[in-house]
Amino acid sequence: MKDILTAPFLRETCSTASNMYRLGWDERNGGNISMLVDAAEAAEYLDLNNVIRRIPTGFDAKAVAGRIFVVTGTGKYFKNIEKQPEKDLGVIRISADGSEAELLWGFADGGSFTSELPAHLMTHISRLAADPNHRVVTHCHPTYTVAMTRVHPLDERAFTRTLWKTCTECIIVFPEGVGVLPWMVCGTNEIGAATAEKMKDRRLVVWASHGIYGTGRDLDEAFGLIETVEKAAQLYMLTAHLPTLNTITDENLKALAARFNVDYRKDYLDE
Ligand code: 13P
Ligand code: ZN
Repeated sequence: MKDILTAPFLRETCSTASNMYRLGWDERNGGNISMLVDAAEAAEYLDLNNVIRRIPTGFDAKAVAGRIFVVTGTGKYFKNIEKQPEKDLGVIRISADGSEAELLWGFADGGSFTSELPAHLMTHISRLAADPNHRVVTHCHPTYTVAMTRVHPLDERAFTRTLWKTCTECIIVFPEGVGVLPWMVCGTNEIGAATAEKMKDRRLVVWASHGIYGTGRDLDEAFGLIETVEKAAQLYMLTAHLPTLNTITDENLKALAARFNVDYRKDYLDE
C-alpha cells in the first residue's frame, strides 16, 4: 500500500487550499473543496473495506452511491490544511442507499465533512450528468466577487454581461455565464438544490453576500474559473464608481466568441 500523503489527489487538494487561502478567498474556515477520486486510484493508498466511521449525509445522495470523494472538513481552516491533512481532510465513500458517508481516511480529530456537503454532492450530480469527466467542486469567499453582489443587480444575465464586458478573457473562459442565487441560509439542502439546479448548464454559481462555487474536470479548471470571475469583479469594483469611457461591446464579444470558437449563452448578448 502506498503512503496516502503522497497521493496526487491529496497533494493537489492541499496545494489548492493553500493557494486559495493566500489569495484571501478563505478566511478562517471559509470555503470547501470536494473532488471525485477513482476507486482504483484510492485502492492504491487505502483498504476500501475498512470503514472508520459512518456519518449521515442528511439527504438522498443515491445518485453518487459508491463514489469516493476527498473533501474538506467543517470548521477547518484552509490556512492549515497543507500542514495537517489527516485532520482537515477526509476520504469518504457514499453508501449504497445514499444516506451515509463512509469515512475511509482522515478527519482524525473526530471531525466531519463540510457543512456544504449537500451543495457539493448535488452539484457533482448535476455536473456529472452534463459532463462525465467532471470531478471537482470548490466553494470560497473571493473578496471582490462578494463585494460585487452587494452593489450590482443579481440578475444573471446582467451580472454575466458586466463580467464579460470588464475583461476580455471572461467570455472565453466561462461562455455559459455565471448563475447567481439571492442570499439564502448556507449549509442547507435548499441552497444545495438551488445551486445544483443552476449547475445543470453552468460551472459557476455566485451566492449573494457569501461567495462562489466553481466546478471542473480538475482543480485547475475549478480554480481558474473562480480566479477569472474574481479578476473581473475586482476590475469592476475598482472602476464602477468612475465614468466608463471604454468597454467591450456586444459586437466585440461576438467577435471574440467566433475567434475562440466558444459556444456562449446567446440570449446574454443583444441582437
Ligand atoms: P465549512 O467549514 O462547514 O466547510 O463551511 C465553510 C463555508 O464556507 C460555509 O459556506
Ligand atoms: Zn461559504
